[in-house]
Amino acid sequence: MRRLIFASNNKHKLIEVRAALKGIVEVVSLAEAGLEGEIPETAETLQGNALQKAQWVWERSHTDCFADDTGLEVNALGGAPGVYSARYAGEHCSFDDNIDKLLTALDGQTNRKADFRTVICLIENGKERYFEGRVDGQILTERHGKEGFGYDPVFMPDRFAVSFAEMPLEVKNSISHRGRAVEKLATYLKVTP
Ligand code: IMP
Repeated sequence: MRRLIFASNNKHKLIEVRAALKGIVEVVSLAEAGLEGEIPETAETLQGNALQKAQWVWERSHTDCFADDTGLEVNALGGAPGVYSARYAGEHCSFDDNIDKLLTALDGQTNRKADFRTVICLIENGKERYFEGRVDGQILTERHGKEGFGYDPVFMPDRFAVSFAEMPLEVKNSISHRGRAVEKLATYLKVTP
């Protein structure tokens, strides 16, 4: 089966993309590819960061690879934290620090609309291609659930009464930002083996 290196050190993301690309490509982790180190993520757009991460792998391996970058865009915060979602509460902050900061910023706010947006950059034979996915929802007033990662406990997708952190992985994957972007990647890979 065709192999693609996934440019992420996030084990939750690796589990999600492996489940979504099962039977289509073999997803190789950075550790399995023998690549170590902190991947830079300093661009000002999701597309720019996805490209930067995928290029980091391509330059070291010359192997086909892909990377994703995700932003949580909160309506009442003018689209923040957006591309800065990972370090919303500061450099080296935890998922919990980010959620605490978000809940404080939205304290008393009735407009809780938000979306997650993911951009995937695939590098094939040195050439880039992009795939995007988005899910709309609401920011809850407190944490619910223990599954998933990141902002999952406080994000409730539209048409659901539970947070991402209360859903089985298959359900989150079938509607999430990354699930939708990966589905487009999967469709592309199926037609260009
Ligand atoms: P990145 O794509 O790893 O840069 O993600 C940016 C930020 O969004 C990080 O804080 C992640 O934890 C968070 N994030 C990315 N994907 C998800 C998700 O599926 N659910 C919740 N948070 C996420």
